[in-house]
Amino acid sequence: MPARDFSLADRLLMDAQNALGTVFGSARAERPNPAVGQPDVVLEEDERRHAAGLMRVNHVGEVCAQALYVGQAAVARDERTRAQLLAAAQEETDHLAWCAERLRELDSRPSLLNPLWYAGSYAIGLLAGLRGDGWNLGFVVETERQVEAHLDEHLKRLPPEDLRSRAILQVMKEDEARHADHAEAAGARVLPQPIPRAMALASAIMKAIAYRV
Ligand SMILES: [Fe+2]
Ligand SMILES: [Fe+2]
Repeated sequence: MPARDFSLADRLLMDAQNALGTVFGSARAERPNPAVGQPDVVLEEDERRHAAGLMRVNHVGEVCAQALYVGQAAVARDERTRAQLLAAAQEETDHLAWCAERLRELDSRPSLLNPLWYAGSYAIGLLAGLRGDGWNLGFVVETERQVEAHLDEHLKRLPPEDLRSRAILQVMKEDEARHADHAEAAGARVLPQPIPRAMALASAIMKAIAYRV
């Protein structure tokens, strides 16, 4: 059945399924993990804990990205916008799986608050989507640019010898830049302040909490 035949109720139901998969299931990547081939250097205990905190933040970021895009897609008006949002969400699934794998290697776990992060981001995605497709895409551009900058910062903060986490973040950064470029090309509008500032503030709070919990 083509996607346009699904009612909003159908889509919300499918989204609920995606939410459960993202939050509780183990996401499955379609592309190979970029860490493969990188040596798994044994880190000092405090460095291991620091790397795990950063990778937990990145994992939460990907849970939020999933939820945002799926929420936005549920109410997107144009089929092409919806398809683009869902394609980006698929690449975020790869990111999600890679971060989860690295967390396991670092002897750690994802955030206990993932259901909460997912619900909040899905609600924000719905709200952005309801403003129309130009806003929807503008939201993607702003999110991805902020994530790109944040990944740069994490690449600086990760222990230099954590080559496996670094390889993952490097590919994620390239993917996020491409997501932003595609959304820009598809007609994103530039979000006015204070929206970008509010988004940066919300993600700063999320990062501070997810590093620990
Ligand atoms: Fe991502
Ligand atoms: Fe992305």
